[in-house]
Amino acid sequence: STPRLHRIAVIPGDGIGQEVMPEALRALQAAQARFGFQLDLTPIGWASCGHYVKTGEMMPADWKAQLQGMDAILFGAVGWPATVPDHISLWGSLLKFRREFDQYINLRPVRLFEGVPCPLAGRKPGDIDFLVVRENTEGEYTNLGGVMYAGTEREIVVQETVMSRFGADRVLKFAFEQAAARPRKKLDVATKSNGIAISMPWWDGRADAMHKHYPQIAVEKHHIDILTARFVLQPQRFDVVVASNLFGDILSDLGPACTGTIGLAPSANLNPERQFPSLFEPVHGSAPDIFGQNIANPVAMIWSAAMMLQFLGEQAAHDAILKAIEQVLAQGPRTPDLGGQASTTEMGQAIAAAL
Ligand code: NAI
Ligand code: MG
Repeated sequence: STPRLHRIAVIPGDGIGQEVMPEALRALQAAQARFGFQLDLTPIGWASCGHYVKTGEMMPADWKAQLQGMDAILFGAVGWPATVPDHISLWGSLLKFRREFDQYINLRPVRLFEGVPCPLAGRKPGDIDFLVVRENTEGEYTNLGGVMYAGTEREIVVQETVMSRFGADRVLKFAFEQAAARPRKKLDVATKSNGIAISMPWWDGRADAMHKHYPQIAVEKHHIDILTARFVLQPQRFDVVVASNLFGDILSDLGPACTGTIGLAPSANLNPERQFPSLFEPVHGSAPDIFGQNIANPVAMIWSAAMMLQFLGEQAAHDAILKAIEQVLAQGPRTPDLGGQASTTEMGQAIAAAL
């Protein structure tokens, strides 16, 4: 096959997913022209509520076969609660990708940019720049458990947490590798070994065992309660933070919230072994409240596309897109969530032009 040809499934999904995806493609086109790689883009209309309303299902029966040959999936957002309940749209699409493509790493960079007002007082660009690494396939999020004696005074409910040595070790290893590749050589581990007295001391033990392979990394463990406080009070102390599924879910919304608008936050769902395609998507959803006005901030989507290029080996293109985003955030044009008046298209065009 042609070197540096990347096969990408492009799934805009619902709502503003359809408005921000064209801006990511615009940036990818510009990066492709400048850096000399090639993208083979396959647009896909399913994995959306629009498809569900037409067909009664979120995805065709052969979805896995259709996506298996792809190098990556670029995803907008899914969800349209007015027509399809959220548990159907999310479990019928995104959660299937994460589980069946074994995307066991959820990666969310957190950065404070120039030109973006920070909700934390006294913080300036450079003060906040870290990565949240969340376990994405097991832990607290399982369907093991049940309700007994439902509707009676004896009603009881049990839901199990499942952590495997295989699952914990692979996410910890990934996090140590990320820390080792960054200058600060620091890893913070989320735990709650004082309260969750079986699984969390065990998780801490797996972190200690993995640490032996990375003696150059300084490790600090934090109980999740004080860790959330430190995200707000001392965000500058973090570089790479690793957490179980539930704790990572919380931290990976809190982190980006500390740097301004949700319209900036990107994410990657990775299968690092590349047995299956990985998926890149903004943290935000379909935003029905602003859909149709062309005012959604396209940066989260464009940054997600840059993370995709990085995962595909196009580091220079990733860095250039980030620089273009930095420049436009600092100088404008900016969408209304950033206090500006620009449209989605104008901001996307400015980023592509800066590239
Ligand atoms: P949301 O992220 O869609 O919107 C939350 C708030 O942030 C809204 O006020 C929205 O206008 C604003 N917002 C979001 N993205 C923005 C952007 N790029 N620029 C400017 N403002 C932005 O979350 P919400 O409202 O809870 O969920 C709406 C739908 O999206 C639901 O169906 C939900 O299930 C789905 N959803 C899907 C996700 C995904 O595809 N990964 C993630 C989160 C929600
Ligand atoms: Mg979440």
